[in-house]
Amino acid sequence: MSIRTNHYVIDLPFQADDLAPYISKETIDVHYQKHHKGYETALLDLISVKEQKNKSLQDLIIHSHANPDRRIYNNAAQIWNHNFYWKSLCPTATSQHPTKGAFFDAITAFGGFQKVEMDLLTAATSQFGSGWAWLVRTENNQIAIRKTGNADPVWLNSADHPLLIVDVWEHAYYLDYKNRRKDHVESVLKNIMNWSFAEQQFNAA
Ligand SMILES: [Fe+2]
Repeated sequence: MSIRTNHYVIDLPFQADDLAPYISKETIDVHYQKHHKGYETALLDLISVKEQKNKSLQDLIIHSHANPDRRIYNNAAQIWNHNFYWKSLCPTATSQHPTKGAFFDAITAFGGFQKVEMDLLTAATSQFGSGWAWLVRTENNQIAIRKTGNADPVWLNSADHPLLIVDVWEHAYYLDYKNRRKDHVESVLKNIMNWSFAEQQFNAA
């Protein structure tokens, strides 16, 4: 029985039907209410009330990743990744590429938004099995694309600062796209990526 003293899962930053038709309300509901909150229920069963009060998700991830028992790490990391994922998405009307500023300049140096989207698509479709594709700021303040497997957050073993994330677990798209991961990711990248959030993250310390 979970004793909930902490909410690790954020509130959705949009309505569940705001991303349709690119991601359906049904997918958002199952993904958020069942998968994301399911990781939290599992995590709260694995840690003490004291840990819930005193440890952030980052603390739990960092302190558990070397444990042979992967349960705390996997659930905490998946909660963190999904919190970041919801912030990485937005309704189409607000999904716009910035046209000036430090983030725009870094994207331009990388090759432009089209190249970013192509490389994110390649990372997402070439990730074997479950995982994540990431847009990051490197320690040299450059743009880079990464991919990680299963629950791994990109920042755990690197100096990379995440800017955006794409979920390529099947639960992110199977109800809408069946096995067509590429179609799903293309649709997300073209229509509902929160570039304003990426820019905020780029400019953050
Ligand atoms: Fe997911």
